[in-house]
Amino acid sequence: MQWENSIVAQLRWSQPIENLEAKQRVGELLASKVNDGDVIGFGSGSTSFIAIQAIAATLKKRQISCTAIPTSQEVSFACAALGIPTLSLVDARPSWAFDGADEVDPGHNLIKGRGGAMFKEKLIIDSSPKSYILVDKSKLVTRLGERFPIPIEVVPSAISHVSDKLHKLGATNLELRLGKGKDGPVITESGNLIIDARFDQIEPHLEASIKGICGVIESGLFQGRDLEILVSESQ
Ligand code: A5P
Repeated sequence: MQWENSIVAQLRWSQPIENLEAKQRVGELLASKVNDGDVIGFGSGSTSFIAIQAIAATLKKRQISCTAIPTSQEVSFACAALGIPTLSLVDARPSWAFDGADEVDPGHNLIKGRGGAMFKEKLIIDSSPKSYILVDKSKLVTRLGERFPIPIEVVPSAISHVSDKLHKLGATNLELRLGKGKDGPVITESGNLIIDARFDQIEPHLEASIKGICGVIESGLFQGRDLEILVSESQ
């Protein structure tokens, strides 16, 4: 029996969504790819949030169903509000996945994690045979790191060790991500901290080098994956 839960049903995106129309278009394009019975890895962020609304509308219109594997609490709640059933990666493997990105370079490498969900996002993408990355044109860059730092999820007791090692890898600036609506640092959904690291140069092996530091859970750098980028034509 579904719980009539207004606190979840009333959830909205927390701030005005930039490039809304472009995100709606690419969300509709993605929704047209849903087949009856698909198990889909649902990414996080505002573009994914809009795509989830488009998927829900498509399910209703075509009288089909799918199951979501969410990458964050925010997405789990969106699925609950829209009546989309969810599973975890322990129960099922996704048929495919989708997500947004903060930056996409010409080689389809990404920076993700503005919303702090990059660990589960990477886990879902790496678990899926096919992943779509949904972006508007503002996300396309010639060089990764042009606008966004690389977010790195770190076990709290390892923060000093990881900071030292990141400087040795060439990081030019490190910031502990602080909460909004909470004093002190952001605590991730796995109970860790986030360091936002700026690099002047992002070499092809940097994702693996960051992951090799003891205390790093994951980073928002995605290098060398076979991803299909869906770019909204409108802005
Ligand atoms: C969430 O942690 C992120 O990886 C998002 O997918 C990414 O920041 C893109 O977010 P928007 O779709 O809100 O721009």
